[in-house]
Formats: sequence, structure tokens, C-alpha cells
Amino acid sequence: MATLSRKVYEEICQIVYEQCGINLGEKKHALVHGRLGKRLRALGLQCYEDYLEFLLEDESGDEIVQLLDVISTNHTHFFREPTHFEFLQEVLQKKLKAGNRKFRIWCAAASSGEEPYTLSMVAQEACLGYEVDLRILATDISTKVLRQCLKGEYEEQKMAGISADLRKKWWKKIGDDLWSAKASLRKPLTFTRLNLMESPYPMSGPFDVVFCRNVMIYFDIHGRQKVISEAQRLLGTNDILIVGHSESLNGINHDFKMIKPSVYQRNY
Ligand SMILES: C[S@@+](CC[C@H](N)C(=O)[O-])C[C@H]1O[C@@H](n2cnc3c(N)ncnc32)[C@H](O)[C@@H]1O
Repeated sequence: MATLSRKVYEEICQIVYEQCGINLGEKKHALVHGRLGKRLRALGLQCYEDYLEFLLEDESGDEIVQLLDVISTNHTHFFREPTHFEFLQEVLQKKLKAGNRKFRIWCAAASSGEEPYTLSMVAQEACLGYEVDLRILATDISTKVLRQCLKGEYEEQKMAGISADLRKKWWKKIGDDLWSAKASLRKPLTFTRLNLMESPYPMSGPFDVVFCRNVMIYFDIHGRQKVISEAQRLLGTNDILIVGHSESLNGINHDFKMIKPSVYQRNY
């Protein structure tokens, strides 16, 4: 296997930081070496120096997308951090009681789709018995995971977090080991690529709830500030931002009120 020199690694880190706000740092050298090796072979390149040259010369921007697909960490699962979904249900039910029928939810780092499909199940269950206009926008920087989102197919083992009742209602078995989202589950969802580092974001909002979980951990304070300012701009008055349990808004300028750990309300 070709060697990834410190110099080339540092240049790649700089490009990744500039393009998507992710600080790879020293510790990811081995990971990038291994994962990019496959990309080199696919391109028929002999060494990482050639890869860097190819990346810098690529004016289409396609290779940076490929690079981000290769190095991004997409770990996720259905009903991850379940208290957030219980809270979403409460928020929607409160709004329904108050007469609201139009709901907009944004899932800002959708990964392979488990989080947006969970949102679709929970939101639709919460709105049962009401005629609502529900839309869920799911975005991610990686085109690879967005393809998985669109496919909406998951192996049995990945479905473990979904109860038998919910599976029966919203999923169909399409093979010994494979499940596919039913049309009714897909209906409110739209998947599209969005780089959280490129502001202002093109959506107009306002959103009732923004799920931005387990992505800011990869950004430095400038990147986190950008995401939070944009989420604040796109949320409606008193509406809700949910971040990952291991994330917080510490050190960031904002007008949110923390209503419980990792749950924030736009405060004006
Ligand atoms: C660990 S996953 C989190 C998935 C899900 N939100 C959850 O909590 O289970 C992080 C996701 O953030 C995405 N990501 C990383 N940098 C990004 C950026 N600059 N803009 C948009 N998405 C980004 C990655 O592609 C990845 O799918």
C-alpha cells in the first residue's frame, strides 16, 4: 500500500476543513490512509501525491464530494437517543391542541436515513386522527448516504430499534433479511444535499423543530456558530432545536433557552 506522508495528509486535512468544517486532526491519519486507499485504486492512481494533485485539479467539485463520502463518519440508528423522539411527540401534540395543522421538521445530518425515517414514524403517529400538512426535510453533505436515504431499505439487524407494531404499519419485508419503507412513511420526506458550512442555507423555513444531532461534534467553534446561527434564523418563534446528548451550545452566541439538556427553544 502507498504511504500517506504527513505533508500530503495535512493538505488533505486543510481541504476537508475548508470544505466541510471537519477537523480531522493527527489521530485520523491511519483512518484516512485506509479509506482513501480504496479511492486511489478506483481511480487507478499509484500514490497519495497523485491523488492530491487530482483533487486540486478537479474543477467539477465531484472529487471533493467523493472524498467527503469516504472519510465522513455516518454512525446512526433508528430511535437513537429516544427521549428526543418522546419530546417531539409532546411538542406536536401540544401544537395540535393549539390548532396547528402545518408542521415543518428539518433533520440536518440525516446520515443513512434512520433518523429521518424515525422522525416520519413519530410525527405521523403523533398526528393520528388529524388532517395535517407534514413535511420533513432531511439533508446531509454525503451523496453516498443520501442515496441510502432515498433507497429506504434496511437489513433486519438495523431494524432492531423499531417495535413490531411500527414495523408492521410503516415497513414491508422485501427479502429474508431486508425491509423497505412503505410509501406512506416516505411521503412527508424530502432528501437533499446540504453542506452545513455553506451559509446562508437555501431553505426559507420557518421550521417547528430542527434535529441537528451528532454532527457539530466534528466542527470547531466557528463551524458550530455558523450552524446554530442558521438554525436560529430558520426556526419559528418559540420553536425547538435538538442537538446530540454529547453536544451543547456552550461558547456560542445565541438566543436559545435550554429547556432540558440538548433541547433548546428559540427565545423570541
Ligand atoms: C454521526 S452522523 C449523525 C447522524 C444522525 N444525525 C444521528 O444523530 O444519528 C454525522 C453526519 O453528519 C454529516 N456531515 C458531516 N459534515 C457535514 C457538513 N459539513 N454538512 C452536512 N452534513 C455533514 C455526515 O455525512 C454524517 O452523515
